[in-house]
Amino acid sequence: MSRHLLVTNDFPPKVGGIQNYLYELWSRLEPDSFMVLTTDHQGADDFDRNVGFQVQRVKGPLLPTASLAKKIDELAEKFGADLILLDPALPLGMLGRRLHRPYGLVLHGAEVVIPSKIPALSGLLKGVMRDAKILIAAGRYPAQCAFDLLGDSTTDPVIQIVNPGVDVDRFAVASEMQKLEIRRELGLTEGLAVLFVSRLVPRKGADSLIKAMAMLNRDESPPQLWIVGSGRDKGRLSRLIERSGIDAVFLGKLSQDKLVALYGAADIFAMLCRNRWFGLEQEGFGIVFLEAQACGVPCLVGDSGGARDALEPGGSGFVLDNPRDAKSVSLALDTLIRNPELRLKMGSRARYFVESDFDYRKLADILKDAIDSVVLA
Ligand code: GDD
Repeated sequence: MSRHLLVTNDFPPKVGGIQNYLYELWSRLEPDSFMVLTTDHQGADDFDRNVGFQVQRVKGPLLPTASLAKKIDELAEKFGADLILLDPALPLGMLGRRLHRPYGLVLHGAEVVIPSKIPALSGLLKGVMRDAKILIAAGRYPAQCAFDLLGDSTTDPVIQIVNPGVDVDRFAVASEMQKLEIRRELGLTEGLAVLFVSRLVPRKGADSLIKAMAMLNRDESPPQLWIVGSGRDKGRLSRLIERSGIDAVFLGKLSQDKLVALYGAADIFAMLCRNRWFGLEQEGFGIVFLEAQACGVPCLVGDSGGARDALEPGGSGFVLDNPRDAKSVSLALDTLIRNPELRLKMGSRARYFVESDFDYRKLADILKDAIDSVVLA
């Protein structure tokens, strides 16, 4: 069995896509085959006590300093690690070449795309990637970015795509009773509902969704919008909702159990992610789409980065080529709202889609084989 050390700034109990990806995959590996070095966070002691693998925490953020390199080398020596995996590629990955053991990088998207487009940083990132043994890409999009950057490099690392996934046992289709219970508990409508889950930042496109909902025909009973998440855009979104007069509820951050129940109770999931800064900022993948589909809910997905890989376009939902265009989002919403049979059909297709390709158990096997292949080669 190979052994490795995962070094990351982003690990639960912090919430987010990178945290979800790392925890859900690594917690499915042999617990003795790795240990995690990460940053301290509120609630971390309780969390670490229950995970069943070793976690060591330091005050964050983790930066490429000489003292951190020393710490990693000491830990790796003590644990008997054959490989060090660093996340993110920059700046933390810069430590790789200073370490005593081989290293790999975990890639998500923005942290690769942004430096790769900035001349002063692209050479640095290319060097850090080129000298790595393995690049674990969280989807086709970060893998493509790595290919593009490495280009004519002669000593290429192994690039292995390990897609983000979902726990298909925890995220499951809800019964009618479960749907009613969570709606009542949170004081939500018993009518049609559209769910949005994400950080409230412009890239996630909650504004397009609000505008699109405002364009729906008001004569028929319009759906309620449920917004889960927090972020700097909340004030702007509140004002937009007030002006548009749609029925929307901010639910803030929810516990994992409530969030799962809410996905199951929704009729449509929508996150109209979009590119920003001339394409520098894009969606890496979008785990929220997989979570909704695992609960049998059809999705509206903005075409940005790797997001279109997170559904079966036309089968389990629709991809919006121009997610800023509220009119086209509104038309897609209207199609699903008017057509309960289509929602049902897409919902069951969605469940099948994630079970087949995005079950974290299968993805963890791919990860394990990839790590073993470079360590034991
Ligand atoms: N419990 C709870 N409560 N979880 C939440 C809440 C909340 O209020 N809000 C968001 N989450 C969770 C979602 O359930 C999901 O698991 C995660 O946070 C969000 O993941 P993504 O949709 O993937 O978005 P991200 O921007 O945080 O993640 C980044 O890295 C991912 C992994 O590589 C992006 O680059 C993604 O595109 C990428 O998939």
